[in-house]
Amino acid sequence: MLSTRNGAPVEAFAKSDSVIQGQSLKFHADDVQSRRLSAAWQARFQRKGKSAARSPFRVNSNQNSSGRAKPVLFYYNRKLDRSRPKIPKTLRNGFFNMKILVTGGAGFIGSNFILQQIQDESVSIINLDKLTYAGNLRNLDSLADHKRYTFVRGDIADRALVRRLLEEQVPAAIVHFAAESHVDRSIRGPEEFIQTNINGTFALLEETRSYWTGLSAEERDHFRFLHVSTDEVFGSLAPNDPAFSERTPYAPNSPYAASKAASDHLVRAYHHTYGLPVLTTNCSNNYGSFQFPEKLIPLMILNARDGKALPVYGDGKNVRDWLYVEDHCEAIATVLRRGATGETYNIGGWNEKPNIEIVEMICDLVDGLSPRLGAPRRDLITFVKDRPGHDRRYAMDASKIQRELGWRPKETFESGIRKTVRWYLEHDEWVRDVTSGSYRQWITTHYAD
Ligand code: NAD
Ligand code: DAU
Repeated sequence: MLSTRNGAPVEAFAKSDSVIQGQSLKFHADDVQSRRLSAAWQARFQRKGKSAARSPFRVNSNQNSSGRAKPVLFYYNRKLDRSRPKIPKTLRNGFFNMKILVTGGAGFIGSNFILQQIQDESVSIINLDKLTYAGNLRNLDSLADHKRYTFVRGDIADRALVRRLLEEQVPAAIVHFAAESHVDRSIRGPEEFIQTNINGTFALLEETRSYWTGLSAEERDHFRFLHVSTDEVFGSLAPNDPAFSERTPYAPNSPYAASKAASDHLVRAYHHTYGLPVLTTNCSNNYGSFQFPEKLIPLMILNARDGKALPVYGDGKNVRDWLYVEDHCEAIATVLRRGATGETYNIGGWNEKPNIEIVEMICDLVDGLSPRLGAPRRDLITFVKDRPGHDRRYAMDASKIQRELGWRPKETFESGIRKTVRWYLEHDEWVRDVTSGSYRQWITTHYAD
């Protein structure tokens, strides 16, 4: 509790849309978010053994007769603030020394990103993940005792937690992967998609805005919020349509795609309205190690391995543009370092393939690596009822990121899919771990119709 000059306790309120006035941030009254901000600052002062009276807050008491605090004005003077941790000096001098808050880092792409980026000694990572069915800390076993890696279990929609993390860790960037990501699940139950992808992103943006506003001008300049999104926001292409570009209008078709589109719009608005330095990447279908086996490629590899039916939706001619996950992670790192704020970048593999071709390739690779007595795996292919609203074709024009930032994929589909099949066949323990009760339940329910 802050105290007034005469020592009476007063609940200090602040306003989230605080405006920078010279060196002071002026807050006032009646806003829940900033009330929590002041509570966090109080905690910091208590930890440091300072009395609130000597804190950099100047408080005007304004209690009403009922004893409840009425809205008050107070000023937080940046010049007086010696307690706030600073973003590492090297970054402030323009050298890229990065503490990154990664959300959803225990999932497929997030864990690949962390494992790749932690190789860079100037990078440290805090991973905030709720550990839903899709999050798996095993992916990051190799970092268990790593001094530049911290794991925090939590929900991006938990604003108090996000606020505390930002204040204590003082990241120079946020890379936002956390999402519900499976289209079929969004069709069966969209609510969680709205909650995490829209409300969760909104909560994260609000807390980020508040944190970013409190940074020094130089730190604000260097800060980045990178939002990881998808090509599905653009809808579906006809066979001869040109690939999606950054200027293609949004036309999401599934609840998943709509929730990602909504989050993209929020991210854009926070740049346009508040100047938050955001970057958005829209990527095509990823494949590679650690992908949860509800998605096409790992599901087909494991079913093929086990001699189970390979369920292909509709006629199997839906087209996706496939990108090896490590290439995607490098693209994200490139955008984070060199992308222009407020811009969006399409990322893709220049590798359009109909689903049936992918499944046949997998069958042949599994046959080669783990021969099946009797019939070839292609015999397991089973055409099943189509996904409702199934987008026919996605294709990404990834020329902007190549032209402006010099990124292009390194892996060919042939080499990437071979590595991926081998990885799943060699990681039986990981597979057993993730294909436990709730996974089996999903497969039984989903493929029953
Ligand atoms: P994933 O489902 O494998 O992982 C999502 C992760 O987010 C999990 O670790 C999960 O525990 C975590 N999470 C979910 N809700 C959370 C919450 N409320 N708070 C904190 N953590 C939460 O997903 P993925 O395939 O790795 O995708 C990551 C991101 O990339 C998503 O935003 C997705 O939309 C996007 N994307 C994916 C692909 C793809 O092909 N997989 C392609 C383009 C874009
Ligand atoms: O395009 C990017 C998107 O790719 C990401 O934003 C999503 O998070 C990611 O899940 C992925 O979405 P898709 O729906 O394209 O991926 P999925 O692996 O579920 O399906 C790929 C294609 O394979 C799609 O046309 C549906 C088809 N399919 C899928 C499954 C699971 C089948 O034919 N049978 C199946 O059993």
